[in-house]
Amino acid sequence: IRYIDDLQLTGKRVFIRVDFNVPLEGRRVTDDTRIREALPTIRRALEMGGKVILASHLGRPKGPDPKLSLEPVAVKLAELLGGKHEVILTDDCIGDGVKKQVKELKEGQVVLLENLRFHKEEEANDEAFARELAANADVYINDAFGTAHRAHASTAGMVPFVKEKAAGFLMRKEIEYLGKVLKNPEKPFVAILGGSKVSDKIKVIESLLPKVDALLIGGAMAYTFLKAQGVEVGKSRVEGDKLSLATRILEAAQRLKTQLVLPVDHIIGTEPTEASVAKETADNAIPPDMMGLDIGPKTRAIYAQHIRDARTVVWNGPMGLFEVAKFAEGTRSVAAAMAINTQATTVIGGGDSAAAVEQMGFADKMSHVSTGGGASLEFLEGRELPGIKALETR
Ligand code: 3PG
Repeated sequence: IRYIDDLQLTGKRVFIRVDFNVPLEGRRVTDDTRIREALPTIRRALEMGGKVILASHLGRPKGPDPKLSLEPVAVKLAELLGGKHEVILTDDCIGDGVKKQVKELKEGQVVLLENLRFHKEEEANDEAFARELAANADVYINDAFGTAHRAHASTAGMVPFVKEKAAGFLMRKEIEYLGKVLKNPEKPFVAILGGSKVSDKIKVIESLLPKVDALLIGGAMAYTFLKAQGVEVGKSRVEGDKLSLATRILEAAQRLKTQLVLPVDHIIGTEPTEASVAKETADNAIPPDMMGLDIGPKTRAIYAQHIRDARTVVWNGPMGLFEVAKFAEGTRSVAAAMAINTQATTVIGGGDSAAAVEQMGFADKMSHVSTGGGASLEFLEGRELPGIKALETR
């Protein structure tokens, strides 16, 4: 694929698909990471003399919904551009009004199209709609890695209708780091997977298991594995219908001689809330009236040692209920070990673990923190992402 630097942008309408699907509280952006990460591409397009048209979805609206207007994003973007560029938010993402606004764009201004998903045709990848989007583009740049797993009009459908296409800097960085993990990780290679469900991570486990030297498991997912091994897990969250799957994974790991490392102790509580008590267990067993809510101190030390000795570490999914402070130490210790205590290339596979790393102030110390949730999971599953594939076609 080509990259933005390979193109000539002077005087051209540069349509940049970004992922500004950011969390909002009312009309305030609560995490602007995705906007900040798109700035290098936006700035470069402006420097190269392009007329910049930004397009994104926000949330999952069913038709136009003022609560999901990109207005707060436009405000945040203008602020992040240092007040040097006016951000003009359009009323709609297609139509004559947009064409006119783009035509009248003055030097230094950028256009942000209103939420693409106000049209159901975006997600339906409707061809007529895709052509209307393409009508505003001389050049198409995709920097929306977070949406690359969706085959929508703005990520896939419109691409063949624009002559020149390329990936932006964020997209390039994501492909480089996540690609390195999949294709040529320096060894020892350690993967850490957490989160609540084995079923969400099964394809990632299958994709990584033959590649890694060790796979460390945390989060509620660990209790399904422990139960499959016959360990007492009390009232921990377990996927009862995934026990034989867990057993098969454990067997596959043995066959491949991959270390599959499970918690040897836990922080347990009575319920998954702030109101719960928090206690350490002596070993991997959990009493009948309690549930596991985080990895314990012995497990933290073991995981930290794996991270220290690795040359490549990829992490996806929290180690416990990190939203509650007394169950956050496992997640914090993995983040800290990756940030401070290793020479390894460290890649955070998006979603909750990226949010945790950001919240805990370790983001700058990682080699790469993915801006994708679903997209980085699908990438690590080894799947081809439609948003990346579209850029490969001429
Ligand atoms: C995300 O946040 O994962 C992307 O922006 C995609 O959003 P979606 O899951 O609503 O398609």
